[in-house]
Amino acid sequence: MKIAASFLDIKEPKFREVTKLSNLDVDYLHLDVMDGIFVENKTYSYDEFREIVKYTTKPKDIHLMVSNVKKYIDEFSKFNPEFITFHLEAVDEVNGVIRYIHEKGIKAGISIKPSTDIIEIINYLDCVDLVLVMSVEPGRGGQSFIPDSVKKIEQLYNIRSQQNYQFLIEVDGGINDETIKKCDKADICVVGSYITKQDYSEAIKKLRD
Ligand code: DX5
Ligand code: ZN
Repeated sequence: MKIAASFLDIKEPKFREVTKLSNLDVDYLHLDVMDGIFVENKTYSYDEFREIVKYTTKPKDIHLMVSNVKKYIDEFSKFNPEFITFHLEAVDEVNGVIRYIHEKGIKAGISIKPSTDIIEIINYLDCVDLVLVMSVEPGRGGQSFIPDSVKKIEQLYNIRSQQNYQFLIEVDGGINDETIKKCDKADICVVGSYITKQDYSEAIKKLRD
């Protein structure tokens, strides 16, 4: 299981803490991008994110919680990330957005909110590189894991093996040393406040156990 660290809940100074986090045993740095429209909260501007990512050498996993998806893809593709993930609920023309990310040479992820069913993304599973299952309502860190998310992960896992698809399964929200065990069929777990609320390296060790 790979770990993508989210620094959404880190207090200032971000740069020092992101450096610290990036030097630890995590596989990706997860960037939560919120526009104040698709979700209520707003995170940094592109320029601020650009400063922050100077402090990491980890592959970047970008989670767009935004409405104007293409504008943000144009900006954040400049970071040369491993993945750019957008929300199904935010776009009309899903195939076009997947193609748009692929044309930039970046792996494309699709994310669904807790209330969205797997059936809604079934037609895109052959062409996406990652499916991000939100295990909390997108918009803020520190919420409790929604147990039903486990079923979605298992559904995706089964579809993938039956159809021989290639996408990775990622889960995001409320992951700690207990809930991570329930998500053992996911490939990547996004972890925010569980790491940043305690000694970072101790937390990562506990997640790895
Ligand atoms: C929530 C974000 C998550 C969040 C995870 O909308 O997408 O990435 O930072 O934080 P925790 O691990 O605290 O739920
Ligand atoms: Zn996220």
